[in-house]
Amino acid sequence: MSQTARDGFGPDTTTDEVLEGIDLSGQLALITGASGGLGAETARALASKGARVVLTARDLQKGEAAAQTIREATAAEVQVEELELASLASIRAFAERFLAKHEALHILVNNAGVMACPEAKTQDGFELQFGTNHLGHFTLTGLLAPALLRGAPARIVSVSSRGHQQSPVRFDDLAFEKEPYEKWVAYGQSKTANVLFAVELERRLGERGVHANAIHPGVIATDLSRHMQQEDFEHIRKRAGGAMKLKSVESGAATQVYAATAPELDGRGGRYLEDCHVAEVNDDPEAREGVRSYAVDPELAKRLWAVSEELVGQSLPL
Ligand SMILES: NC(=O)c1ccc[n+]([C@@H]2O[C@H](COP(=O)([O-])OP(=O)(O)OC[C@H]3O[C@@H](n4cnc5c(N)ncnc54)[C@H](OP(=O)(O)O)[C@@H]3O)[C@@H](O)[C@H]2O)c1
Repeated sequence: MSQTARDGFGPDTTTDEVLEGIDLSGQLALITGASGGLGAETARALASKGARVVLTARDLQKGEAAAQTIREATAAEVQVEELELASLASIRAFAERFLAKHEALHILVNNAGVMACPEAKTQDGFELQFGTNHLGHFTLTGLLAPALLRGAPARIVSVSSRGHQQSPVRFDDLAFEKEPYEKWVAYGQSKTANVLFAVELERRLGERGVHANAIHPGVIATDLSRHMQQEDFEHIRKRAGGAMKLKSVESGAATQVYAATAPELDGRGGRYLEDCHVAEVNDDPEAREGVRSYAVDPELAKRLWAVSEELVGQSLPL
């Protein structure tokens, strides 16, 4: 595909189009939550270009089924590892196994996520959405950073969401101990944390060749909506201004595959991407496109890192 075609990437661009002309042989990619949805498609696409891929799944049987589909479609080496992001013990055990097996990691896609679930806690007592979507990936990435540094140039992709527009990180009430739990605010907070995490990762690792970006995939019919009721679909439609264009899974996963591989992003990080391009900051409350300034504020990103270290009881000296 020519440079001109890449310039024309947009909402309908697919993973295969993003990867046209790109060779990933020799690269190791790790994708969390790859038992289905966008994670499985991301793994398939990267594998189709020769990357060795490690899929993580909390349900190994589901992960194996996804891996088998990829093995049948590509010649790539595909491994599956158990990882429960709502458990620090599971994350630490996984990281230990991973580091024992692999010297270097080139692409880390922090994709797993849970959305708008009823109020619940992780095994370590964190609010479930913040705990899974942010603290789980925070801990995992910190533990895997040595392998990413050995793999440099390497990339980290933080799969966020336009849902980040529903809430900044609520530092004074992260776990809804003062205000009643609101599932969309909790999701929004966790997805804002995903963007802030990429900003701070970039500040800490960018100069050493490990670049981190956050992305919004679009709206795609996946199992992510498993907790949604009819009223929630209405809520999303209303936020989208009535018009909600669904993407295919191949187009939905394209932005994270773009962030993981696009040569245009060489040496660049700390950005928020949507529809396969870097998005602008936009604080217009009516705006659906773009990233809110509270999600890319470098001071808030530093503060989130410090709070996260304290919560998980682990300092990540990167
Ligand atoms: N689909 C959309 O419209 C959309 C829009 C914006 C952002 N996103 C983001 O895209 C990412 C992927 O979502 P998706 O649409 O592909 O949803 P999905 O089909 O539900 O996939 C989510 C993946 O995360 C895994 N997961 C959930 N909780 C986990 C935990 N505690 N530990 C380990 N793995 C866990 C799931 O495992 P199980 O299969 O075992 O549940 C699954 O593999 C999420 O971060 C989501 O926030 C999606």
